[in-house]
Amino acid sequence: MTDLHNPMQQSKLHNYNSTRGAESYKADYTNKLHRKWSDKRERALLTRYFAEIGHVGTILDLPCGHGRLSDLLKNKCDKLIEADWSFTMVSLNQRDHGRDSRSYFRASALEIPLPDKSVDVVVSFRLSHHLETSELRERHLRELFRTAKKTVVVTWFSATSLKNLLREVRVKLTGKKPKNVLRNERVRAIAAECGFEQQRAKPLFRIGSGHVLGMFTRR
Ligand SMILES: C[S@@+](CC[C@H](N)C(=O)[O-])C[C@H]1O[C@@H](n2cnc3c(N)ncnc32)[C@H](O)[C@@H]1O
Repeated sequence: MTDLHNPMQQSKLHNYNSTRGAESYKADYTNKLHRKWSDKRERALLTRYFAEIGHVGTILDLPCGHGRLSDLLKNKCDKLIEADWSFTMVSLNQRDHGRDSRSYFRASALEIPLPDKSVDVVVSFRLSHHLETSELRERHLRELFRTAKKTVVVTWFSATSLKNLLREVRVKLTGKKPKNVLRNERVRAIAAECGFEQQRAKPLFRIGSGHVLGMFTRR
């Protein structure tokens, strides 16, 4: 069952909220080669996007996880807001990165407890593909666009990526679970409805990953 407060598989949510799961997600980025590669590529793209965005007053990083991108984002703003659904992730992040020009809170990215246009840039990495229905994935996007005054940088799993097209074959042949995807044109349409325009949409990798990193600016 999935709804607003229960948007991803219970086992995954439980894992992110447990100390073991949060520590293990953090450790993956030092121990697993594919995680290190994707981290490196995500940082390179994010740095390139921020070269266009410039230094800003506030950034909201939701979900922040254990703070993988915290130091990079901190260098791009005066005040960084780190938020996640998991208390454990938020406290691990705070323990590792401290409170200097950073604040922390627990929140759902599907119901962000902040007013419209209240932060300059909203960053949301690696959440969309965990959300179990297209309604929730679209709601997530709308919440990011509502809260951002200037720019949204967000990842989603592309329906037209090679990785997803191969998965669709396996879904038909073996009954494997489908990926939680979005169509790129649908993301652009939601952005437009919310007053945003797509500036960039780069695949993380063309082969082996379906993630796209998009950058949208308010018109
Ligand atoms: C794959 S991790 C990504 C963390 C971070 N953005 C990164 O790229 O390292 C997914 C995160 O989403 C959080 N999460 C799950 N559901 C959420 C929700 N509805 N709102 C906010 N965070 C959520 C989990 O606790 C977890 O920290």
